[in-house]
Amino acid sequence: MRRFVISTACLLLLTGFAGTRLARAADHGPQQAAASPTGAPTPAGFVGQEMCATCHQDVVNKFSGNPHSRLALEHNGHGVTCESCHGPGQAHVEGGGDVTKIRRFDKLTPQQINETCLGCHAGVHPNYQRSPHAKAGLSCLSCHSVHKAKVPENLLVAAQPQLCFQCHTDVKPNFDMPFHHPVNEGVVKCSDCHDVHGSFLPNNLRATADQNQICTKCHTDVRGPFVYEHAAVRAEGCMGCHSPHGSENARMLNMPSINTLCNQCHSRVAAGTVHSMGAGSDELAPCTSCHTYIHGSNINAAFLR
Ligand code: HEC
Ligand code: HEC
Ligand code: HEC
Ligand code: HEC
Ligand code: HEC
Ligand code: HEC
Ligand code: HEC
Ligand code: HEC
Ligand code: HEC
Ligand code: HEC
Repeated sequence: MRRFVISTACLLLLTGFAGTRLARAADHGPQQAAASPTGAPTPAGFVGQEMCATCHQDVVNKFSGNPHSRLALEHNGHGVTCESCHGPGQAHVEGGGDVTKIRRFDKLTPQQINETCLGCHAGVHPNYQRSPHAKAGLSCLSCHSVHKAKVPENLLVAAQPQLCFQCHTDVKPNFDMPFHHPVNEGVVKCSDCHDVHGSFLPNNLRATADQNQICTKCHTDVRGPFVYEHAAVRAEGCMGCHSPHGSENARMLNMPSINTLCNQCHSRVAAGTVHSMGAGSDELAPCTSCHTYIHGSNINAAFLR
């Protein structure tokens, strides 16, 4: 309460001062709205960050460590300030802190929140609006918090994978299976494979820079291009044979037996002349004991050793 009394006194001084500055700077758009420690003019309706500090000292102090301040400091004070997100503050200030005259994020619809943030971040996340997350009504603030982030890096409300498991309880058990990507172990992140801000692939999947499946970014040995490609890898993708979250089967395969997996597509061939050493191909050694380079080969058309 004491802070508020002192602040009101400050306000009387500062509004008079700001008023003269505002009159000179009517033509700037909101994007240029910037606190100006250097004394540059402030656009109409905007009062500058020092003004906010007179009443919201604690918020402003904490904000100096925020990634949104970093750029403001680097560029002579011209960057993201309070009013870049909360809108022009003059009416709010003149109303002695009238909460109906300032943009409050808890009063906005998800769509309005997204538009506010994308005003600056659409360049990095151009696909957000058509992503499954946006379509499901999530806003940036479902995962991010500007002032109260639990994880400073990327301003997240919770660390991965817990952040994701809050809603995606159905995929959680997959990562406890005997063979799984080490996501709970912290080696791989959900966001290594998914871009939650949207992508051009189904399931929000990321692609590599050269538009390959994201898997080959880490598993470079199966990447190719190969002289002899296994058509299955091209046509079905990695998921034709693997369950990427986790599986009961070694190598995260879709099927408990390698031969059953291969025979989904090759039963006729495998039972034919080349392999007629046994009654049925399921009784052979695993197909990959001979067809070792199953992802493709530069030496042998049948992927043999
Ligand atoms: C004259 C003092 C004063 C100034 C200057 C001031 N505010 Fe406020 N502001 C208040 C008061 C009082 C409240 C209502 C009590 C509270 O929630 O802290 C408030 C509330 C807010 C809220 C809503 C808080 C909520 O809980 O929803 C926001 C956002 C806000 N101010 C932003 C700003 C910004 C941005 C600036 C600078 C442009 C600014 N204020 C300048 C006094 C002020
Ligand atoms: C990058 C956008 C952005 C900037 C810049 C920003 N805010 Fe906020 N502000 C938000 C969002 C979003 C919320 C909702 C709570 C959250 O996510 O932390 C919020 C909430 C608030 C609240 C409500 C109380 C609370 O903590 O929930 C106040 C007060 C406030 N901001 C003041 C300020 C002041 C003062 C500044 C400048 C130092 C500022 N904001 C800069 C986005 C921003
Ligand atoms: C479903 C959760 C979720 C939603 C919704 C979400 N984000 Fe993110 N965001 C993340 C995670 C996780 C990261 C860190 C990993 C990454 O970069 O993908 C991140 C990273 C970022 C980054 C920093 C890294 C980069 O790529 O530049 C920015 C900026 C960002 N998000 C902005 C936004 C904006 C703006 C929105 C709303 C339009 C939004 N996010 C919606 C989860 C989310
Ligand atoms: C006025 C422009 C602007 C607005 C509006 C804005 N941001 Fe930012 N944001 C930035 C800038 C600039 C950075 C710092 C980029 C850098 O450091 O490279 C940033 C950084 C971030 C980061 C990355 C933090 C990190 O760890 O590097 C996240 C996440 C983010 N913003 C989320 C949001 C969210 C959520 C909103 C809406 C509530 C929002 N931003 C609104 C300009 C903006
Ligand atoms: C606040 C709840 C929430 C959070 C947090 C959340 N999601 Fe989602 N996610 C949803 C909803 C709702 C959908 C759309 C409906 C659906 O497909 O389940 C969705 C869709 C997806 C999809 C697309 C599914 C498809 O069928 O196309 C992926 C992938 C995804 N989320 C991954 C993530 C990851 C990774 C994280 C953590 C970084 C995360 N989500 C955080 C709620 C959430
Ligand atoms: C190694 C890469 C990878 C990692 C790590 C990963 N995913 Fe996935 N995820 C995929 C692929 C690939 C698909 C598509 C599956 C398909 O086509 O059969 C998928 C599908 C999904 C789907 C939609 C289909 C479904 O199963 O419901 C959701 C939701 C999802 N992932 C969430 C997550 C979450 C949450 C995490 C982290 C806990 C995560 N993923 C980690 C690769 C990955
Ligand atoms: C961010 C890097 C990364 C990405 C992207 C990635 N993986 Fe992995 N993958 C790993 C790590 C780390 C392991 C665990 C290796 C270990 O335990 O020795 C692993 C293990 C595997 C294994 C089991 C290997 C074994 O020897 O048992 C398979 C199969 C696999 N990944 C397939 C995929 C598929 C399919 C995708 C794409 C959907 C993918 N990976 C994306 C890092 C990644
Ligand atoms: C036609 C089925 C099939 C497809 C498609 C496939 N794999 Fe495999 N993959 C296998 C089999 C079978 C094994 C086990 C080989 C063994 O145990 O000898 C394996 C093993 C692996 C391993 C473990 C290490 C190794 O090389 O043996 C990784 C990693 C892997 N695959 C990644 C991928 C990636 C990434 C893709 C997509 C680019 C992919 N796989 C596509 C069948 C396939
Ligand atoms: C999703 C279907 C599919 C699966 C599963 C699959 N393949 Fe294939 N495979 C193909 C197709 C399609 C071709 C190309 C056939 C052609 O060119 O006539 C091919 C080609 C081959 C060839 C080369 C054939 C030739 O004519 O030179 C071998 C060897 C082979 N596969 C072995 C395997 C083995 C071993 C497995 C199990 C690890 C497997 N395949 C799993 C679809 C599949
Ligand atoms: C004992 C070693 C061995 C095993 C085990 C084996 N193969 Fe073969 N496979 C071969 C040889 C050798 C060839 C002939 C390669 C050539 O003609 O150059 C061949 C050829 C093939 C071809 C190409 C056939 C054609 O007629 O074009 C396919 C497809 C194939 N194998 C699939 C499989 C499948 C599926 C399995 C498991 C059910 C399997 N192989 C198990 C050794 C093996």
